[in-house]
Amino acid sequence: MPSISNKGQAMPESPIRKLVPYAEAAIKKGRNIYQLNIGQPDIKTPAKALAAVKDNAIEVLSYSHSAGFESYRNKLSQYYRNHNIDVAPDELIITTGGSEALLFTMGSICDAGDEVIIPEPFYANYNGFATSSGVKVVPVKSKIEEGFALPPISEFEKLITEKTKAILICNPGNPTGYLYTKEEIDQLAEIVKKHDLFIVADEVYREFAYDGAKHYSIMGVPGIEQNAIMIDSVSKRYSMCGARIGCMASKNKEVMSTAMKFAQARLSPPTFAQIASEAALDTPQDYFEEVIKEYTSRRNLLVEGLEQIPGVKVAKPKGAFYCIAELPVKDAEDFAKWLLESFELNNETVMVAPAAGFYSTPNTGLNQVRIAYVLKKENLEKALEILKAALKEYKG
Ligand SMILES: Cc1ncc(COP(=O)(O)O)c(C=O)c1O
Repeated sequence: MPSISNKGQAMPESPIRKLVPYAEAAIKKGRNIYQLNIGQPDIKTPAKALAAVKDNAIEVLSYSHSAGFESYRNKLSQYYRNHNIDVAPDELIITTGGSEALLFTMGSICDAGDEVIIPEPFYANYNGFATSSGVKVVPVKSKIEEGFALPPISEFEKLITEKTKAILICNPGNPTGYLYTKEEIDQLAEIVKKHDLFIVADEVYREFAYDGAKHYSIMGVPGIEQNAIMIDSVSKRYSMCGARIGCMASKNKEVMSTAMKFAQARLSPPTFAQIASEAALDTPQDYFEEVIKEYTSRRNLLVEGLEQIPGVKVAKPKGAFYCIAELPVKDAEDFAKWLLESFELNNETVMVAPAAGFYSTPNTGLNQVRIAYVLKKENLEKALEILKAALKEYKG
């Protein structure tokens, strides 16, 4: 039989999706599952975005510009300006989700064997994007005890080699919920300037900052215009995960013209979804105020509930809609499977994502899970009850 590639064999499974077969089997048994494993919000997509797709008179569903509709880039640039982020329309490439923006970025700045330093735990698919780009992830550990704040900059410095091309951060963080302070962003800016590295900031959760905290974009730091690359997406901002629209942005013309070659090779981002995303930009600010209020109260309920379960440790998120919880178990993956295969409370159970896959250091985060607070409060309350009862019963 012809053999598959080493790269294909090295591709990691997504820790977010790998328990799906167990969930499917549980559903077949008639069990109701509270899915806290995946960042699929139950928040409604803005009606304007959906209406724009329904109400248009397109006769030919054609390709668009490889960088995305000009009208969309113009409007998006204005959106960023309203958020104090200065990005011109020609400094933007519309992509098929933030996922493709990350792939274009790695493809544009890294050769096989190059290294990217990432604070861990990090969004698990960075491992997949890095593997498919031949890039080596070099983790720098952030700690639950410190709320997953930026590790000391000296820790980054120790890891820089001649192979290092970039530092990649997620702000606010998935899975940590940590929101970097201005001082932390400035420290990162200093180090990339000093060592002539790129800084890639995945800001897909920018709008989700709680308790009045302010988000500091990498694009707002003076002096690193040629180093900074921003990743963005409509998936979470407008609860439009299925649209598959994101973007990459940089003031570095060489980066953007290189990324454009990747963009041309895949022709264009999806047309209908760009129509929806452009219309979504008219969403009034009170939509976000409502959504942020909702996520804040879900977060509070979840964190307070988890803190009351004996042996559970949690870092209170300041943004995004995830938290990492340390559980009184040895192997959180075994526990997560057991929840789906063997446990029920009134014929219901909970699905969580084992956190080890959010680390690239082996044998790390083994007793942690990532929980997404993407369900309404009644369901989060039930999920907490189930987790509490399950942890009492689980032997492991
Ligand atoms: C941190 C982060 N970056 C990027 C993505 C990719 O998002 P999408 O491709 O849906 O835009 C996600 C999705 O969950 C994410 O959490």
